[in-house]
Amino acid sequence: MKTFDDIEVRRPALAQGYLGLLTAQPGRPLALFAPRRVGKTFFLDHDLAPRAKEAGMLPVYADLWLHKSAPLEAVNHALEEALDDLRVPVSNIGKIAKTQVKKIGVLGASVDLGDEPRRRALPGSAALRLDALVTRLARQHKGQVLLMLDEVQTLGEAPDGVSMIATLRAVLHKRRDDILAVFTGSSQEGLARLMNTAGAPMYQFAQIIDFPFLGDEFLRLLADHFRKVHPGKKIELSELRDGFQLIGFKPALMRDIVRSMSAEGVTDVRRGVENYMTSDHQLAIWKALLNSVDAFDHGVLVAIANGQAPLSQATLKTLEAIPGANPTISKVRSSIEKLKRSGLLSKSAVGTTIDDPLFAEFLRRP
Ligand SMILES: Nc1ncnc2c1ncn2[C@@H]1O[C@H](COP(=O)(O)OP(=O)(O)OP(=O)(O)O)[C@@H](O)[C@H]1O
Ligand SMILES: [Mg+2]
Repeated sequence: MKTFDDIEVRRPALAQGYLGLLTAQPGRPLALFAPRRVGKTFFLDHDLAPRAKEAGMLPVYADLWLHKSAPLEAVNHALEEALDDLRVPVSNIGKIAKTQVKKIGVLGASVDLGDEPRRRALPGSAALRLDALVTRLARQHKGQVLLMLDEVQTLGEAPDGVSMIATLRAVLHKRRDDILAVFTGSSQEGLARLMNTAGAPMYQFAQIIDFPFLGDEFLRLLADHFRKVHPGKKIELSELRDGFQLIGFKPALMRDIVRSMSAEGVTDVRRGVENYMTSDHQLAIWKALLNSVDAFDHGVLVAIANGQAPLSQATLKTLEAIPGANPTISKVRSSIEKLKRSGLLSKSAVGTTIDDPLFAEFLRRP
């Protein structure tokens, strides 16, 4: 290991556990939910997919957010790509060579290698295509497909999300011998909407699981590397734990902070976090974020960061200080909706909160 950036934690046991859950209940996808930037996608890519391959499955990944208005198309596209990869090798030469050679002329003057591989046209409707693709893919692979749908809360936001969820559910159930599915989502708010849009079925349909944060294993690697770089200096694990919690368990961010601590020779984690928060770079990012919302929304963010009940009289009173604000409950409500959609606010067990705990800390400061 050479730099802080190379520090990675693998979680094969967690992946194995999830595959176990999936095979124990065919037709029921797993839905893994956790806040932003804690390592969901990394896990799918580095842990779950490889483990699935070892078990003879064919992992297929689709990011639904990339195709927000038509998520089902994104799923189909990913399946089509996987099918192409199985049927025809990546290069053109491979494509041609796989077909039957019809005729080869002397001196190579007329080389006719036959038509490129062709397959029966797939149904046009996205729902039918999904069904057909799953079947074809499993048959071609001669094994189960593991469908990994990232940012699945997008389904709850799509115009015809309800029917898409119904389709997905029907296909996953009908083809349960051929396909297993894992969903991941980052927004608790999106998850709530997904459940409500679809009516209760999603709850019974998927097994909802809180995806676990990284823990001491990751923090120990950071501390060990720090020690290697600075012999004689030591970061306390307990301080790292507190810091990691403070920043919302985001591994890339923690790595940045410890890297900066290392550059400055700092071993006090609180100071490291403080330095990071007050760095020009970080302040510029937060200021830009605040510039993207209007003064009223800004006021609402500050009130929430300070722990005020968003729809309380106290909040309205604070907002009155903003010129031209004329705060009303309904104005605050629509501001909150907007801020949730943009990801600045999220809904948690304790109510509406600022999504990023460090940003909340920044908002609290005068
Ligand atoms: N197991 C891990 N070990 C080390 N670093 C990790 C690990 N998992 C994630 N990271 C780091 O955290 C960053 C964010 O991870 P990732 O993109 O997987 O988060 P996410 O939960 O999918 O975020 P988002 O909600 O924004 O999609 C990664 O780029 C990676 O640098
Ligand atoms: Mg992700």
